[in-house]
Amino acid sequence: MAAETRARTVGEIMSRPPVTATADETVASAGARMREQGVGSVVVVDGERPVGILTERDLVRLAAAAASTSDAVAAWMTPDPDAVAPDADVASAFASLAEHGYRHIPVVDDDRLVGIVSMRDLMRIAQIQPADNLAGDVPRGLEGVVVAETDIGDVRGLEGFYHYRQYDAVELAETRTLEDVWYLLFNGALPSLAERDRFIEEIAPLREIPDDVKAILPDIARVAQHAPPLDLLRTTVSLMGAALGFRPSLDLSGAELYEQGLRVCAVVPTLLCALYRLQHRMEVVDPRPDLDYAANYLSMMRGDEPTAEHARAVEQYLISTIDHGFNASTFTARVITSTGADLAAAVVGGIGALSGPLHGGAPSRALDMLDSIGTIDKADPWIRDAVERGDRLMGFGHRVYKTDDPRSVMLRSVAERLGGRNVEFAKQVEQQAIDILAELKPGRKLYTNVEFYAGIVMDTCGVPREMFTPTFASSRVIGWTAHILEQAADNRLIRPSAHYSGAPPPQPVPPAE
Ligand SMILES: CC(C)(COP(=O)(O)OP(=O)(O)OC[C@H]1O[C@@H](n2cnc3c(N)ncnc32)[C@H](O)[C@@H]1OP(=O)(O)O)[C@@H](O)C(=O)NCCC(=O)NCCS
Repeated sequence: MAAETRARTVGEIMSRPPVTATADETVASAGARMREQGVGSVVVVDGERPVGILTERDLVRLAAAAASTSDAVAAWMTPDPDAVAPDADVASAFASLAEHGYRHIPVVDDDRLVGIVSMRDLMRIAQIQPADNLAGDVPRGLEGVVVAETDIGDVRGLEGFYHYRQYDAVELAETRTLEDVWYLLFNGALPSLAERDRFIEEIAPLREIPDDVKAILPDIARVAQHAPPLDLLRTTVSLMGAALGFRPSLDLSGAELYEQGLRVCAVVPTLLCALYRLQHRMEVVDPRPDLDYAANYLSMMRGDEPTAEHARAVEQYLISTIDHGFNASTFTARVITSTGADLAAAVVGGIGALSGPLHGGAPSRALDMLDSIGTIDKADPWIRDAVERGDRLMGFGHRVYKTDDPRSVMLRSVAERLGGRNVEFAKQVEQQAIDILAELKPGRKLYTNVEFYAGIVMDTCGVPREMFTPTFASSRVIGWTAHILEQAADNRLIRPSAHYSGAPPPQPVPPAE
């Protein structure tokens, strides 16, 4: 018990002996050692002195650059890595890893490599250490705190860059289909043409809503006729999971969970469009196996076949929003999965988190804001008043991006390509808002986020405002599910601690009056 009640040191929990490499050996042999030993990095040493670190991420960079694995380790390692001393306490090592986004830090004693400490080691200790030792420094809203490892993707806020697996997400949105990216997220690699065809064939029948569930959709739409479609989706995904007998993820094999994930992701667009049309007393439009994902989605929503230009624009939006680091809804889905609950429960949790205006609920509000501003001559006073009142400008600001949101940059160019009444106006409002925010909120680094131009693009493609956030959900469910599969494959219950700040206990319980 003593070890659990005092601050623990890095030396006590580090892995040793560390797996090492030399700068002049090949990346192939160092990579093979990493795989054999089951570690995510090797420390590059000169004698006992660490001179660099080579991580899995470096191997991914090498593969992405199609470089040769016979390159020397020196060409791909990070030289002079930050290190931590063995007598440093766990909390400060944790803070350093989290702040710099490192996953591993060499432990160095007097210029001599003695071990390596990973985020995983620190997380293990954080589970048993009293919260006081770690929680004091945890920032509000967990900003910047690393809470898991993932191979699915990452967001680099200061660089304005994000990626899915090892590929630039914007480049994927510009060059690939949604099905390709879905396959990438679920399977870890982009599909060959034959794999893509098989995947599309596999998904097509899964777009159909099971008959029993379909039969009660009119009732659901009637009793909640004015509810946002996302609220109805939450209800029907839950119903579907129960009707199809989804069992706790803890009791399923990876393959069974994968099948369920495909099914839920494929049916979500159909459910959304059916519910939306029923709420508006329109006939439900069945999915069409001959149409690609986005064209099928628009056809089920609008009741007519969209132009190729509109389908492609919406597809680009959908690809760009499939995944985005440890956002609130993804985190929620992973927490629920970590309890071993079924896949539908995790997706329903994700939908709930996404529905909030601070997460996914902003694109229609951004368009409402443009409507409310009306004309560009009114933009300056309107924005100033709003910010001075303490209101948030919808479609601006981001927890991670402190520069242009790359999704907003891409969607701005999609909006320009499509043309339409609002684009020039939106660009002018964007510039004025950024200038006014810089003046009234100096240092906060507030720029447009994904939601600002998402609204413009969807509006131009005939997506009604009430379907903006649902459309976001229809792609993000793929990201949630990829995370659910990853969490289930290497699970540990996510159970953090809170710092108690209430009245000091124990107080005697007063008698009931
Ligand atoms: C996205 C968002 C929730 C990120 O929030 P966050 O990282 O917690 O940022 P904070 O709430 O700590 O805000 C930091 C400061 O910037 C200001 N700020 C952040 N976003 C702002 C916005 N959109 N308009 C005006 N001010 C904003 C805050 O008022 C705060 O100012 P203060 O220091 O004077 O109190 C926030 O930027 C926001 O509410 N944006 C509008 C909603 C939106 O577009 N959501 C979609 C997100 S993809």
